[in-house]
Amino acid sequence: MEAEQHFLQLVKEQLERVERLKNKPAAVNFKDQIVIGYCSGDGIGPIITDATIRVLQKLLADELESKKIVLKEIQGLTIENRLAKNMAVPDDVLAEIKTCDVLLKGPTTTPSGGSAKNIESANVTLRRELDLYANVRPVILRDEGIDWMFFRENTEGAYVLGSRGIEISDDLVFDFRVITAPGTERIARAAFKYARDNGKKRVTVVTKSNILKKTDGKFWSVCMEVAKEYPEIQVDEYFIDIMTAKLLDTAERASFEVFVLPNLYGDIITDEAAQIQGGVGTAGSANIGDRYAMFEAVHGSAPRLIELGLAEYANPSSLIKAAEIMLRHIGFIDKANKLATILGEANQKIKVTGNVADSKCLDITEYILANL
Ligand code: IPM
Ligand code: MG
Repeated sequence: MEAEQHFLQLVKEQLERVERLKNKPAAVNFKDQIVIGYCSGDGIGPIITDATIRVLQKLLADELESKKIVLKEIQGLTIENRLAKNMAVPDDVLAEIKTCDVLLKGPTTTPSGGSAKNIESANVTLRRELDLYANVRPVILRDEGIDWMFFRENTEGAYVLGSRGIEISDDLVFDFRVITAPGTERIARAAFKYARDNGKKRVTVVTKSNILKKTDGKFWSVCMEVAKEYPEIQVDEYFIDIMTAKLLDTAERASFEVFVLPNLYGDIITDEAAQIQGGVGTAGSANIGDRYAMFEAVHGSAPRLIELGLAEYANPSSLIKAAEIMLRHIGFIDKANKLATILGEANQKIKVTGNVADSKCLDITEYILANL
């Protein structure tokens, strides 16, 4: 039966992937020159990317002058080009991206299942192709003393075979969810290491292992193994449903510090956390691997704003926040701190919500530029 062949093929591919994960290459260090690639993406992407690049050009003026840092625009990661080539990330675009050390990526549009041309999400493809296994998303609520850090596993779970489900008949369809021990171990290690390096006392593992016994059961047990190497850190397991509730519990939520979780739970809960922080437009996201890293907004290309003709009201804060996290990643801590302070101030003073009653992308960008 065709479905059986398909399933056997998936198992074979995943077994090969596990072997590759076990023999991973050593992490690279940054060289004398750091190349930051950037792609504007779709929808509100170009307007918020333009704002972010202007901020980086000002903040990094000396480094750009001395060529310690190079900003390189990469064309072609647009829905039009991707549909024309029928590829989630066209080969020439991927090759260009791989010439850079890090990538700043504007939001890209993904056609949803059922639409005529069904290409995979560019995000998912890039995360897989560049092996960006740690999706690291900070959320800060100063008034409550909250400094959450989410470590979302970024290359497996519900996403790894998201485009490879099986349609047995009109009435019966399957999707697959994959958890591997080495894939879990590396995200767990990233979370615990972050906790140790940053004086955090608690790591919360989020699963639904009471129901998804194999996959989430494995995720939890591997996290527990890694936790043994970090005896000073308290580790606990929360189920995803109660976790979504606890994030709204103002009496308890400040006690959480670091979260580690499979891909789809991480996707969902980081939107919730971003909303608590002030909206998805305020949250940045890092996708980190051992060789490459990609920085982006938590949100998508906002087709609603485009349809309503409100692109200029898009909030660039999420992508500017992503740029701040990128600066930290490449070792420019002082510049990152400076940007974080000004961005925080800007968001206090200038409300950009996508509504005409509030400010525009340009207003908050000019404020940041004037204060850098
Ligand atoms: C995110 C986004 C992506 C995801 C989409 C755009 C594929 O929601 O980065 O959280 O689901 O991971
Ligand atoms: Mg998401």
